[in-house]
Amino acid sequence: MYEFLLPEDFLIGTAHSSFQSEGAWDRDGKSMSMMDHFSVVYGGKPIPGTVNTKNVRYVSTETPAQGCHFYDNYAAYIEDMAKTGQNVFRMSLSWPRIIPTGYGDVNQSAIEYYNKVIDKLLENGITPFVDLCHWDVPQCLYEEDGAYQSDRFPEWFEAYARVCFAAFGDRVKLWSTFNETGVALAGYINGRFPPYEKSRPRGLRAILNSALAHFRAVRAYRQMGFDGKIGAVMAIVPITPALMTETDISAAERMSLYRFDMFMRPLAEGKFPEEFLDQCPAYRQAMPEGYQEKLDAWFEPMDFVGLNYYHSDRTTYDPDKPLLARGVENFYAAPGQKYQCYPVGLMDAVWYTWNRYHLPIYISENGMSREDKHDEELDCNDDDRIMYIREHLRMVVRCIRMGLPVKGYFYWDDADCFEQQSGYDYRFGLTWVDRETGRRRWKKSRHYFADVCHNRMVD
Ligand code: NOJ
Repeated sequence: MYEFLLPEDFLIGTAHSSFQSEGAWDRDGKSMSMMDHFSVVYGGKPIPGTVNTKNVRYVSTETPAQGCHFYDNYAAYIEDMAKTGQNVFRMSLSWPRIIPTGYGDVNQSAIEYYNKVIDKLLENGITPFVDLCHWDVPQCLYEEDGAYQSDRFPEWFEAYARVCFAAFGDRVKLWSTFNETGVALAGYINGRFPPYEKSRPRGLRAILNSALAHFRAVRAYRQMGFDGKIGAVMAIVPITPALMTETDISAAERMSLYRFDMFMRPLAEGKFPEEFLDQCPAYRQAMPEGYQEKLDAWFEPMDFVGLNYYHSDRTTYDPDKPLLARGVENFYAAPGQKYQCYPVGLMDAVWYTWNRYHLPIYISENGMSREDKHDEELDCNDDDRIMYIREHLRMVVRCIRMGLPVKGYFYWDDADCFEQQSGYDYRFGLTWVDRETGRRRWKKSRHYFADVCHNRMVD
């Protein structure tokens, strides 16, 4: 029988992010992040600057105000993680909690809070994997100078990173700078995320600045003498051609370069994919001046990459689009889910990344969304999520057997929390949470995940 055993040093656990889970967004000195700001100020209204076309999205009426009440209940959550048998937890630090003015004074109560969380994890034998920034850039930096847009962004980020390394670096040995620098594209080019801008030059500058900020943090980490590992977490959506025609095949390649390598290659190699810019003049023209010199001045290699994998996409050639490509409907449907479940795509994602960048890989996110059924029993009886986890973890073991360096797997997310754009419409968690009171209950899938962690084997 083919046994799906997890290697001895394999990290397996759950993940979450500060703005989605902590709640307490305005307590103990924390200022607003860009994510809080747009939910709180624009909640329920059309995204700023958009008109009422089929593409208009409304900012969710719900806010990250309570998340999953992690800020107040962190100890109980971590005890649950220990019972689950997981050996790692991926979390992010909140920049506006730690430095409410973006740069300058440090909020000691935030340092104390994260010290308690990190110590509690370690006491329970759980390795913390810590992201410096999971999208929640302080809103005041956007108001001052466009946040990621600003040429000062890398300097602001480095200063913040140094504070975090100095405070937690003695105990945290696995760091990621950013979660999904692709948010620069979604926020400044596509207008889908705060700050909902639609400008190609501003978006490309945001991508460049996030790469420079990443290098400066990685460099600072090493200069400060720490010996842990530091990398970044990327979103990956493997792309296949709609049809096996030459034009669709090259459209799919172009789309992959745009959605993944435009972010990954600067971080991994200090270069943008020039072959993409050659094919899409609208993007080349909008690139910031002197981008290569800036990358050369700051480039610092990273130790690993985290991949957030949820689904795959299909692409066709379209001469009317600046990318000369557009997505088409997938073959498979996913009623009641935010993303379509496609386990084979996990292997495509790992293989694509390894083949190009030769870095150790963590599956830093993978998880199943399910529409909130507003019925605790139905929400907790999630056999479909068990199947989801089993199939994706089997794929991880297959990758390892093939010689692909997958070092860990993080289920997204530990407990039902706030989801950008969708508010609380979807539940991704292994733990069910009563939104109002914070009462928790293990879903069936958490019991299953616990068996996998304890047995170090996927059934
Ligand atoms: C990736 C993001 O990192 C996370 O914040 C989000 O909740 C999940 N995708 C699910 O959409």
